[in-house]
Amino acid sequence: MNSSKREILVTSALPYANGDIHLGHMLEHIQTDIWVRFMRSMGHQCYAVCGTDAHGTGIMLNAEKAGVHPEQAVAELREAHIQDFAGFEVVYDIYHSTHSPENQELSNFIYGELKRQGHIESRTITQLFDPEKELFLADRYIKGTCPRCKVEDQYGDNCESCGATYTPAELINPRSTISGATPIEKESEHFFFKLGDFENFLKTWTKSGTLQSEVANKLDEWLQDGLQAWDISRDAPYFGFEIPDAPGKYFYVWLDAPVGYMAAFKALCDKTGESFDKYWKPNTNTELYHFIGKDIINFHALFWPSMLHSSGFKTPNGVYAHGYITVNGQKMSKSRGTFIKAKTYLEHLNPEYLRYYYAAKLTSKIDDLDLNFEDFIQRVNSDVVGKVVNIASRCANFVKKAGGRLSESIVEPELLQSFINAGDSIATHYENREYSKAIREIMELADQANEYIQEKAPWVLSKEEGKEQEVLEVCTVAINLFRQLMVYLAPVLPLMSDKVKTFLKVDTLDWSSRKQLLTNHEINKFKPLMTRVDADQVSALIETSKESAPESPKKTEKLHPGGEAIAEEIDFNDFAKVDLRIAKIVDARAVEGADKLLQLTLDLGEGPQRNVFSGIKSAYSPEQLIGKLTVVVANLKPRKMKFGLSEGMVLAAGPGGKELWLLEPHDGAQPGLRVM
Ligand code: 2FM
Ligand code: ZN
Repeated sequence: MNSSKREILVTSALPYANGDIHLGHMLEHIQTDIWVRFMRSMGHQCYAVCGTDAHGTGIMLNAEKAGVHPEQAVAELREAHIQDFAGFEVVYDIYHSTHSPENQELSNFIYGELKRQGHIESRTITQLFDPEKELFLADRYIKGTCPRCKVEDQYGDNCESCGATYTPAELINPRSTISGATPIEKESEHFFFKLGDFENFLKTWTKSGTLQSEVANKLDEWLQDGLQAWDISRDAPYFGFEIPDAPGKYFYVWLDAPVGYMAAFKALCDKTGESFDKYWKPNTNTELYHFIGKDIINFHALFWPSMLHSSGFKTPNGVYAHGYITVNGQKMSKSRGTFIKAKTYLEHLNPEYLRYYYAAKLTSKIDDLDLNFEDFIQRVNSDVVGKVVNIASRCANFVKKAGGRLSESIVEPELLQSFINAGDSIATHYENREYSKAIREIMELADQANEYIQEKAPWVLSKEEGKEQEVLEVCTVAINLFRQLMVYLAPVLPLMSDKVKTFLKVDTLDWSSRKQLLTNHEINKFKPLMTRVDADQVSALIETSKESAPESPKKTEKLHPGGEAIAEEIDFNDFAKVDLRIAKIVDARAVEGADKLLQLTLDLGEGPQRNVFSGIKSAYSPEQLIGKLTVVVANLKPRKMKFGLSEGMVLAAGPGGKELWLLEPHDGAQPGLRVM
């Protein structure tokens, strides 16, 4: 194996830091993770990197709404994404961020090379501009009346009602969806990457076997039509990297996003001592693969290889696109409860159910994949539990009764050999991302194993006098077949594989271990490896997903007089974690650029004074507050906000506006007192 050990680097698309991970993301990350685990099982070096896609207007505006600095918003979502992936056993060697020094350096370098070689041009363009927010507006931030059918409330580039496409300037009564202001036209200088310079390179590269054939064909059409220069700059305000020598101009998020793959790997190399150049310089034997969704093919198969090629890096050996998911045959929908967050799923169901189901349906094509919950329950229960786990659960006890040790010889060597041989074709399917074919073959083997057990019926033999050895021999064959099946399923079911390793007392389920038969080998007591999916759990998942959807408030929710639903119940221990203290407001100031916030300096009796931002400007002037005592959450983790660090939270009550009352203690309270 070692003579042909491959050195591979794999990436999944970097999720945006503007929302939660959902089951659509999970398709890609599970697909990647299975491939990586399979390659490692084969004995290859296979790195997997991912990270947060941190930049762009959307992330900037969301952070502003939440009143935090974009860096803080990104950091919080990155943590949440890491948790979600870990919950599904998706393992990356590093989960980095595009908002990192490595990425800035590499992005500047690549841009510098493109510019030096004359592939960047600048042009003045006219765009719609929000005069209130002082921001250029991307099409999705403009709405107005369709110039063709006159239906109102249509987006800036196309009409959902009549299908017309137009420029935002053609909309009737256009308005900015950010401020509501009427946009004006404004000129600004932009930088463009001259993709046309790479036409010949791309014509060859896209046909070199790096792409799925249907993708290569699509790109061929685009290449025939000619390639437009790509606008890679955005004007301030923008959350991103400022372009060197161009103050106020930022790299468009899609310029530095794929560079984030390199940056993640660079950060990994800095930690481990691995060679960065070995994986990113041309003419090495290493391999680079990107797993992506079909919506971002142009970025990965046109812009990205051109950027790499001209800046002296190697181009990917493969860009592999997958389709979208539908749930129960329809687009994911919040109101139907089928827009399911990874976190919500994990609260109800075993992650390996989904890993198995996706594997059973994934192909190497870009077709969409339907997550049909009836089929999901049926497949997991009948395949994994009914066919695979069943083999071990039916035989383990007989081995235990015979002393817990497998027989000294194998009575069905041909059967075991045929299972070993099947490993080659299953491996090819995994490598080619034809997981559904791999799973089909594995389940055919599982059927054969069950037929063998059914035919030998150890439960009948065990009742016959003097058949103890035969029972043990039959069960030894069955346990060995089970082990081989688990070698084949291990990339898909890592958690169950760990339990199986304990049960079988083996160190590895790597691909080649299927050849080492277990004879005269002690095994452990059988413990349940996977329980059946319960339809009620699935219903509960869908119900919860409906509840968390903003568009469908539940009528049964308790409402308090202010009209907002009372939050989810917490237990006493949760409550006890909140450290409420009396604080004296020793200073209060307005915050420049913030409509709602005041900056407060608090004295908590002990420790240094605290800086806290509080959204109470509508009800209090700074002077009214100085000298007041109030209740604060003293142990709230400091939050980096746009205006500075906030080190606690001041408690107030009321519907908002002028009606917002600070919680004030009775006479006699002093700073530092605990509120109970
Ligand atoms: O489409 C997306 O979700 C992007 N955030 C993917 C970026 S992939 C890579 F280029 F960073
Ligand atoms: Zn229309």
